[in-house]
Amino acid sequence: MATKKNRFSEETNIVHGIDNSHISTQDLVAPIHMTSTFKFNDFDQGAGVFDGSRQGYVYTRIANPTVDLLQEKMALLEGGEAAIATASGMAAIAAVTMTLAGPGDNFVACNSVYGGTFALFKDHLRKFNISPRFVSPVKTNTIDRVASLMDADTRFLFIETPANPTLSIINIELWATLADQHRIPLVVDNTFASPYLQKPLDMGAHLVIHSATKYLGGHGDIIAGMVIGDGAMIQRIRTEYMDHFGPAVSPFNAWLILRGLKTLAIRMDRHSSTALKVAMWLENHPKVSQVYYPGLGSHPDHLLAQKQMKQFSGILGFELKGGRAAARTLLNRVELCTLAVSLGDCDTLIQHPASMTHSTYSEADLRAAGIDQGLVRLSLGLEHPDDIMDDLETALAAIDD
Ligand SMILES: Cc1ncc(COP(=O)(O)O)c(C=O)c1O
Repeated sequence: MATKKNRFSEETNIVHGIDNSHISTQDLVAPIHMTSTFKFNDFDQGAGVFDGSRQGYVYTRIANPTVDLLQEKMALLEGGEAAIATASGMAAIAAVTMTLAGPGDNFVACNSVYGGTFALFKDHLRKFNISPRFVSPVKTNTIDRVASLMDADTRFLFIETPANPTLSIINIELWATLADQHRIPLVVDNTFASPYLQKPLDMGAHLVIHSATKYLGGHGDIIAGMVIGDGAMIQRIRTEYMDHFGPAVSPFNAWLILRGLKTLAIRMDRHSSTALKVAMWLENHPKVSQVYYPGLGSHPDHLLAQKQMKQFSGILGFELKGGRAAARTLLNRVELCTLAVSLGDCDTLIQHPASMTHSTYSEADLRAAGIDQGLVRLSLGLEHPDDIMDDLETALAAIDD
């Protein structure tokens, strides 16, 4: 893949990374092109618009200059040839899966994924006769199990790493090698890490997905998604899905993501260092039986995480000895940590996967994915870590022994 590279360091590309001189005068910051359509000078310029033969911009569902800048920047940061911005992370996942697979096809996915992804795979793709085959990342010999589930109709492999909400780490290189052997793409949801901490394409993955709602936007004020990969595959997703199913991102949201991206490196540094502090503290807390954070030496995939990631990001899970009742007390008592789904914001967010983000899982699905009723997920924000721990300490103290 001829990836976009330049002579600058990652941190510099996160701030700069795109050239907007062709669409602006002397703007330091890329302008927002809030327009639905673009004027034609005459009939001939407008003719042939929808067969792709017209050069330049036509209609914002198809292409928009602000959205193009975001796509260019994300291709650079992930090390891909091209990118697509979508209306949400789920739109990105739907675009990829519905382009790669059709009636009669199947795919293999980890069963520890975002609850919306799980519902799309398990319930909705079935309507199109596309079948998921799930594997558990917490079992040993996962890769042999993946291989045993593949056949001539397997169209792609799908993983999240770190995985939502168990924080399991999946071996990208192993899965990519298996995908290569079968000449199918490995799709990696890189939402939990961000391109600053992990680059799946460099490890052999073929497509990367993001919920840009999370760390890329970084401020909890937009919903958007991204797909990054090789040029031909991105073009296929564009023409076979995006253009006519239509989940385009708003130029305003694309602009907010471009703005958010400028601070990605420093935010991820801070999210990661706070998460490690809080994880170490929780590990010694008497009300907590287990902490899941890939940065901890006690995490079963710590060495793999060290290999795949620059730092370990800002999300952790912890198991309360008191189970669901204890989780209810904790979540009702926190004050600084906000009880809300989502992650990757400046604000620390706390939630209960089994009844919130992963309520799309049945009891059996939860058990198979290792999501227990006592599991709480914490997305560490940019507040002072001592204030976060104080808040958690007060709320944990309210749990009955
Ligand atoms: C890992 C992951 N992927 C995808 C999504 C879906 O993204 P969105 O909410 O932007 O549609 C989420 C949402 O929480 C997520 O956590």
